[in-house]
Amino acid sequence: MRKKIVAGNWKMNTLPAEGVELAKGVARGKGEVCDCVNFIVCPPFTHLSSVIESLKGTGVAVGAQDCATEVKGAYTGEVSAQMIAALGCEYVILGHSERRQYYGETSETLNKKMERAFENNLKPIYCVGENLEEREAERHFDVVKAQIEEVVFNLSEEQFAKLVIAYEPVWAIGTGKTATAEQAEEIHAFIREVLRSKFGAAADDCAILYGGSCKPSNAGEIFSKPNVDGGLIGGAALKADDFLAIGKAF
Ligand code: 13P
Repeated sequence: MRKKIVAGNWKMNTLPAEGVELAKGVARGKGEVCDCVNFIVCPPFTHLSSVIESLKGTGVAVGAQDCATEVKGAYTGEVSAQMIAALGCEYVILGHSERRQYYGETSETLNKKMERAFENNLKPIYCVGENLEEREAERHFDVVKAQIEEVVFNLSEEQFAKLVIAYEPVWAIGTGKTATAEQAEEIHAFIREVLRSKFGAAADDCAILYGGSCKPSNAGEIFSKPNVDGGLIGGAALKADDFLAIGKAF
């Protein structure tokens, strides 16, 4: 039985006090959503600590949006996996398309971040997805396959068991354009096949989330597909009611 996950990527939004309010709102409303849904919120680094504190005992998990490639040392501005883990974070988003696109993250960088995450018992939410040009050239399967082979295939079976994957087509992020439920299912099933070729039956236990303009009005249809195990939500995660409504879509 795969985990159902609704994760909120807050990106560079909310000030610390707003973040705590948002997190509390999610925790308050969670009782109205099926117990089977695992909620995760991923605030900016600056409010990880206060959000974790405000969510203690609520069952809402917390993740960071990134971590450093290095363990520690003279890397001004970086935040290590160990620091994040010490705060009580359970997850870390790695390889988000915005980091690949704007900050030059490559498979090489992401292999290091994955190692750092696992060394500190963080569960990575590893993001894959093609851009518009790649989709139009029908290269999306190849792009996503390479993103998985170059990083996920380096994991041990034990590490793979802790991994969450998020498929986020870049053309659907923040654009209001969502992949159709059929498009999502097609590529999620493909991702699972790729994972199965390396990890066998364990691929059936890996949660694969959809991300990209997912909102209360479309989540139900997308989540109804057999290989879609939840969502990584951007804009709609910034309002507790919308985020919770996405959880109710299961
Ligand atoms: P939106 O839901 O705002 O399109 O963002 C999706 C996303 O990038 C989540 O990581």
